[in-house]
Amino acid sequence: MSHLFSPVDVGPVSARNRAWVSPMCQYSCEQQDGVPGAWHHEHLASFARGGAGLVMTEAAAAVAEGRISPQDAGIWNDQQAEAWAPIAQRIRDHGAVPAIQLAHAGRKASTYREWSGRGSVPAAEGGWPTVAPSTAAFGRYAPPRALAPEEIEALPEQFAAAARRAVSAGFDAVEVHAAHGYLLHQFLSPLSNTRADAWGTDGDGLRVALLRQVVEAVREAAPDAALMVRLSASDWVAGGIDTDMTVEHVRVAMEAGADWFDLSSGGLDPRQEIPVGPGYQVPFARAVRAATGARVNAVGLIDEPEQAEAVLVDGDADAVMLGRPWLRNPHWALAAEAALDADRLPAAAGAPDGAAASDAVTTSVWPPQYTRARHVSRR
Ligand SMILES: Cc1cc2nc3c(=O)[nH]c(=O)nc-3n(C[C@H](O)[C@H](O)[C@H](O)COP(=O)(O)O)c2cc1C
Repeated sequence: MSHLFSPVDVGPVSARNRAWVSPMCQYSCEQQDGVPGAWHHEHLASFARGGAGLVMTEAAAAVAEGRISPQDAGIWNDQQAEAWAPIAQRIRDHGAVPAIQLAHAGRKASTYREWSGRGSVPAAEGGWPTVAPSTAAFGRYAPPRALAPEEIEALPEQFAAAARRAVSAGFDAVEVHAAHGYLLHQFLSPLSNTRADAWGTDGDGLRVALLRQVVEAVREAAPDAALMVRLSASDWVAGGIDTDMTVEHVRVAMEAGADWFDLSSGGLDPRQEIPVGPGYQVPFARAVRAATGARVNAVGLIDEPEQAEAVLVDGDADAVMLGRPWLRNPHWALAAEAALDADRLPAAAGAPDGAAASDAVTTSVWPPQYTRARHVSRR
């Protein structure tokens, strides 16, 4: 019995397996209107056809100024929600859970997509002024404006409105993006949040107040959806977020109604020194799961089926998210199922065409149209 190919509940939603697609920006809304199109449809549907249990969209901006680049996708208006609807439906048709990541990039907004330039986009080229808890810039990006208290108070409802649109578009899971140095992470980290008011005071856990309010608002807006939160479990800089702080953030978000935690790291501070290697973020998932009992996924350089299976067998996480492996092979889970022999069933008597017993597909993620490719033919 494969752990990777066993079903799992994410709050009120059930996923057919634990091989999931990590959110990946495509920077492909060429009209700069945040409306997803043919590229997004093809891209995301292919992973669902390829056997994923859950397919997460790229960071979809909850408000226009929260886009990382002018070409980012969004979910801040109804036109965008209507464009997401057939995409969510196609993911569901292929048997995966359609999920969307809700995001605001804060001081890391208004940057060039990676193949168009480096750093902040000037207003003349469609850029906009950025906002953050404090005025410190990220590296050489344009310095942000510090948000006024009333602007911070408006954010939970902006995320909630995005979540309502996501549900209306047919998504069964929403993920609050509080990682990778974007706005909610900027509030959580002592390195980027130096506010002296109620949104930044240290010691009282007030830096986590915005995350708590966002999760509460999204929970209320989407009571039947799976509510996931992506966190950076380490800033990889002395004085920044560490595992103990992350455990606290998880406890607060669980109390606020989160069902699941997606544990990544980094992205907040250019001084970060990350010991990148296979499964390097898995220990965060393990630590959070052990300390809080939360359901978690691991992510980051989990490339091989056996490696993914081991993360689950060892009890480090309840699911794995993969990013780049799906870009290399959109049918990653089909290949993984074959590699792990995860669908092998007892011999079916009298297989009509002399097919081997292991060709039985009852539990398989292989679409019936593709099963003839399930085993490499020696002929
Ligand atoms: C092209 C690309 C775009 C990404 N965009 C996002 C994003 O929108 N939101 C996010 O949380 N992470 C994003 N990430 C990070 C991935 O979700 C994932 O955490 C990271 O790639 C590590 O997993 P991997 O080693 O399996 O690729 C992106 C990564 C890539 C390669």
